[in-house]
Amino acid sequence: MNEIQVLDKTFVPFLSAEDIQSKIESLAVTINKDYQNKKPLFVAILNGSFMFAADLFKSVTVDAEICFIKLASYKGTQSTGHVITAIGLDSNITGRDIIVVEDIIDTGKTLHTFLPQIINQQPSSVKIATLLHKPEATVYDLHIDYCCFSIPNKFVVGYGLDYDGFGRNTKAIYQLKS
Ligand code: IMP
Ligand code: MG
Repeated sequence: MNEIQVLDKTFVPFLSAEDIQSKIESLAVTINKDYQNKKPLFVAILNGSFMFAADLFKSVTVDAEICFIKLASYKGTQSTGHVITAIGLDSNITGRDIIVVEDIIDTGKTLHTFLPQIINQQPSSVKIATLLHKPEATVYDLHIDYCCFSIPNKFVVGYGLDYDGFGRNTKAIYQLKS
């Protein structure tokens, strides 16, 4: 794999497409076991999670639904600390088994802000599934149920993750070159 250029920054290969797909397969196996005889509703957070949500959902074999919400807190390579809801939840989630799907948990603010909106509607259970987690950056108290990769506190792009809107369209994940 080669370095890539996204806008003014250079990124180096970090996670291969094969490693990503194989972790997602294993996660789906776990979810299929944990949700046997249940009908979970996946709530995927746009934009970043669209590829992860699609690949994970394809490997889920229990009866399941998926819906999308849009939250945003990032500008460039820094969290702004403000989370806005651009598209809200339209499904009825009362009594449902919810799996929130995120691309990456950084400070944890996005989910910390959003989870009360879910919990207010009295779902039967709520779990968090994230492709990536930066434990060193997480300052909000969150219980992450399913995580594919714990990564260092460095900015990454690819496989849905962006730098100022660009760099999402790759099968692998790349890390900012230091
Ligand atoms: P948090 O609210 O600080 O946990 O940030 C979560 C959101 O910030 C993620 O859903 C991403 O959209 C974005 N984000 C955090 N870290 C990165 C990164 O390294 N690359 C691209 N986007 C990121
Ligand atoms: Mg996101």
